[in-house]
Amino acid sequence: MKIINTIAEMKEIVRAAKSDGKNIALVPTLGYLHEGHVSLIKHARKAGDLLVVSLFVNPLQFCPGEDFEKYPRNEGWDHSVCRKNGVDIIFNPMPEEMFSVDHSTYVNEESLSQSLCGKTRPGHFRGVATIVAKLFNIICPSVAVFGQKDAQQALIIKRVVRDLNIDVEIVVLSTVRDQDGLALSSRNEYLNIDEKQDALCLHEALSLARILVSSGERETKRVIKKMEAVINQRKTAKIDYIKVTDSETLHSSDQLKGSVLIALAVYIGKARLIDNVIVHIEEK
Ligand code: PAF
Repeated sequence: MKIINTIAEMKEIVRAAKSDGKNIALVPTLGYLHEGHVSLIKHARKAGDLLVVSLFVNPLQFCPGEDFEKYPRNEGWDHSVCRKNGVDIIFNPMPEEMFSVDHSTYVNEESLSQSLCGKTRPGHFRGVATIVAKLFNIICPSVAVFGQKDAQQALIIKRVVRDLNIDVEIVVLSTVRDQDGLALSSRNEYLNIDEKQDALCLHEALSLARILVSSGERETKRVIKKMEAVINQRKTAKIDYIKVTDSETLHSSDQLKGSVLIALAVYIGKARLIDNVIVHIEEK
């Protein structure tokens, strides 16, 4: 396994791999890898001849006042997870390597980014789309793997790839949860024991929504109200949003129909956690 810190070296490796007829698979990450990342890495290992994992805490996707400085980092751990899972190349550049001081070009998806997390985190998806496009340009993967926990991010990346004609297949894999149902996230690191218990309310609310839908509930408002009640029982929880939308367009509607994304963001103490499920509603 090689650890590469510069764009020039990364491009050289890509050039050599392509001229040997190799396909490249990429797993872009912010590091601090957990089992959710491992599932992406394992999938990517099978999908490409050369497997690249990027570890880059991208300053551009953190809004002012967010947790960029505090975001958990542990390179030694990340390297050992990658080594254990057959990663060929870790791309681990410094921010100065990725962004010139006078960097002034951004990728801005203008529709899907407006709602859900885009409302609370203005500029976040511009930061994500820009860094992902840069990684695609540097690494030229034929496949890139993302997690469904970041459902909106995955949709935006697919849209950017389509709109900018980038030659890469985007694979989105199911959310990995701990045994209590908590979606794995590097930000779970911020939770103390009580908060960890309270954080289960995201999954509980989503499970309740599933049950309501499968027992015939079709009124968006009623689903959201019952989910709110579950979350508001928890002392350290504060709802950012609960949204019920079309799973492709992210448009909300009063009645649930078709393929529906039920997504939420909840502050548990200082940690802002997100989670979602997709439910398919059979037309009668
Ligand atoms: O999902 C993430 O970890 C990040 O948003 C990503 C895709 C690596 C871009 O920095």
